[in-house]
Amino acid sequence: MRVDIITVLPELLKSPFEASILKRAIDKGLVEIHFHNLRDYTDKSYNQIDDYQFGGGAGMVMMIEPIDKCISSLKEQREYDDIIYMTPDGATLNQKMANSLSLQKNIIILCGHYKGVDQRVRDLFITKEISIGDYVLSGGELGAAVLCDAVIRLIPGVLNNETSALTDTFQDNLLAPPVYTRPADYKGNKVPEILLSGNFPKIEEWRENEAHKRTEKLRPDLLK
Ligand code: ADE
Repeated sequence: MRVDIITVLPELLKSPFEASILKRAIDKGLVEIHFHNLRDYTDKSYNQIDDYQFGGGAGMVMMIEPIDKCISSLKEQREYDDIIYMTPDGATLNQKMANSLSLQKNIIILCGHYKGVDQRVRDLFITKEISIGDYVLSGGELGAAVLCDAVIRLIPGVLNNETSALTDTFQDNLLAPPVYTRPADYKGNKVPEILLSGNFPKIEEWRENEAHKRTEKLRPDLLK
């Protein structure tokens, strides 16, 4: 998968891709991440990329021209499956969306700032608008990092044990069951006996049951 990220703050976004699973995915050649600084696509003085909004009102709006130039130059080089705009008024990211995005080959992610982008950008170029939750961030970059993490870890070969993504919380609309590791007895607090039994069908049954119990207690909305 290739991800092109359009941003005014590439430095804010780089570190998540220089560590952990995302770095490993890049090193293995499973993912390519390219950053594009919107300020490189403006002819205006001071590398201006935003302007006052028509009709008045507080807050600057990102102009269409630099965004058009950047997206158009990318589209000349390859086809994109989706051009995603990170925005608090987008569809809230969930595991189903992450699963389906993980199957794509080339995507562009546009990070908004200030009051957002000129509406014509959304009308003309954007194919998906995604929010990472009902709160307002100072820009789309952290949302883009969250989206990339959620998507990239699902690409086959990225996780060592491929089945581990399949048993994640939210796959099957269930929370994951509790997990334990050594010691089996910590200051009198014991691991459930069944997990030490070696009876794998029974263990699987216990896990499913616990996943249901946990979901009913913490996220009953997922079971509806
Ligand atoms: N930009 C600002 N707030 C955001 C949010 N909640 N999700 C995605 N992008 C955003």
